[in-house]
Amino acid sequence: MSITFYVPRDSGALALGAEKVAKTLENEITARKLDAKIIRNGSRGMYWLEPMVEVETPGGRVAYGPVKASDVAALLDGGLAEGRVHPLWLGLTEHLPFLSKQTRLTFARCGITDPVSLDDYRAHDGLKGLQNTLTLSRAEIVAQVTESGLRGRGGAGFPTGIKWKTVLDTLAPQKYIVCNADEGDSGTFADRMIMEGDPFVLIEGMAIAGIAVEATKGYIYIRSEYPHAIAVMNEAIEVARKAGVLGASVLGSSYVFDIEVRVGAGAYVCGEETALLESLEGRRGIVRAKPPLPAHKGLFGKPTVINNVISLASVPVIMDRGAAFYKDFGMGRSRGTIPLQIAGNVKYAGLFEAAFGLTLGEIVDDIGGGTATGRPVKAVQVGGPLGAYFPRSLFDTPFDYEAFAAKDGLIGHAGLVVFDDSVDMLKQARFAMEFCAVESCGKCTPCRIGSTRGVEVVDRLSANIEPEKQIAVLTDLCNTMKFGSLCALGGFTPYPVMSALNHFPEDFRPAPIAVAAE
Ligand SMILES: Cc1cc2nc3c(=O)[nH]c(=O)nc-3n(C[C@H](O)[C@H](O)[C@H](O)COP(=O)(O)O)c2cc1C
Ligand code: SF4
Repeated sequence: MSITFYVPRDSGALALGAEKVAKTLENEITARKLDAKIIRNGSRGMYWLEPMVEVETPGGRVAYGPVKASDVAALLDGGLAEGRVHPLWLGLTEHLPFLSKQTRLTFARCGITDPVSLDDYRAHDGLKGLQNTLTLSRAEIVAQVTESGLRGRGGAGFPTGIKWKTVLDTLAPQKYIVCNADEGDSGTFADRMIMEGDPFVLIEGMAIAGIAVEATKGYIYIRSEYPHAIAVMNEAIEVARKAGVLGASVLGSSYVFDIEVRVGAGAYVCGEETALLESLEGRRGIVRAKPPLPAHKGLFGKPTVINNVISLASVPVIMDRGAAFYKDFGMGRSRGTIPLQIAGNVKYAGLFEAAFGLTLGEIVDDIGGGTATGRPVKAVQVGGPLGAYFPRSLFDTPFDYEAFAAKDGLIGHAGLVVFDDSVDMLKQARFAMEFCAVESCGKCTPCRIGSTRGVEVVDRLSANIEPEKQIAVLTDLCNTMKFGSLCALGGFTPYPVMSALNHFPEDFRPAPIAVAAE
């Protein structure tokens, strides 16, 4: 019987040596004349185990990791092909606690299938959502997405169905679907992981969106720092086109839909939807004032749906299993599942898809296993560089849009960056202001000037120059930025700054002067 090995082609695994592992395994297969093939899958999202090699056995897939190229020969000698026990043996992949505790709806296939095999995609429930879509009217599709409770996973949490309805209701000869794959938030990698591990689910989601709102063309705006995602997406689009999933007749229907990948040059602000549109149109990424909304006047002045990768990639399962199925997961107004990206100083860094509602403490302590350094967790920044720092005292906050907002925080793109007790929160506050100053598009004064003044104020605090006065100025400046900025870059920079100040005031006070003992 032929043996099937899996070695990920995901960027995270590649960065840890997966290419060398695959090459060595291939050479060993040839030298040992084994009847075996290697599938280059996506990652399962357990990055501390990458490169994770799997082998298909009658009892299921067995995992080994982290594997180095120099381990491969000994692994084969020890029975890798049969899934035998070895020091790197992890057991059945599906039984690994980090995986078995998840609810994988959007990431159901990631790491399981061959990312660029449409047959594999179909064999794992792929295209069922799109098939169902073809039996419904546009209004019915939009109603399903609305009913599912899906909210934008890019940061703002805006209801996806309402956005789609606005575009559907705006009459125009041409409309567009734009997929935001700029993924600039610190500690986030869900968009990249799905594009590299299951690109067809994004293609399917975009095709459904196109059919729903009467758009015939879609663009995926991917950051240039994601060369592997760009390559996999382009390959998958070509396969989808050849198979009639994209093109002049989507799955043999009368609907037309095609997709093009565009590469961004790497400015954080180009993830903001209107700056992204400017960039897509070939101009410098500067934020546009709203109104008009992109849904009315977006790309090239035409009605446009702009959605994050994960929002779009969550649509196929909704259209396959139904709005009620999806809506059943979650809490409050946060429905469905969310791919948590656990990063920073944490023992088990990776992607954990779960229904909304886990507490921050469960995510960081139980799932993430605490810090990698073994020191106490001091703070967790949730939601990227514009997100608040949460102290341990707020670890009972459930992962839910409203619960985070109530604690002056945000979920954003669901990235969590963990810090141990060696972090200096005054330095983190300075970093937030500096980041805003560097990445500001410069269109509005509170952000352009305020962020630079913010760095100066924090520096004066560090130098212990009239600290009480500096704290008052910093608080006032944050209020001006929060309420006077045109977009969330300037408007949300106060979140990390003020959360650092409010939750860790001891880091903002001058260190007591040591009195030498006589
Ligand atoms: C400074 C800034 C950066 C942003 N970066 C991203 C990004 O990288 N990816 C993303 O999907 N949304 C990003 N957003 C949010 C987008 O403006 C927009 O809300 C989102 O693409 C809409 O899609 P969704 O409704 O599916 O979330 C950013 C917003 C701001 C203000
Ligand atoms: S807040 Fe900053 S990034 Fe946003 S429009 Fe104003 S200057 Fe540009």
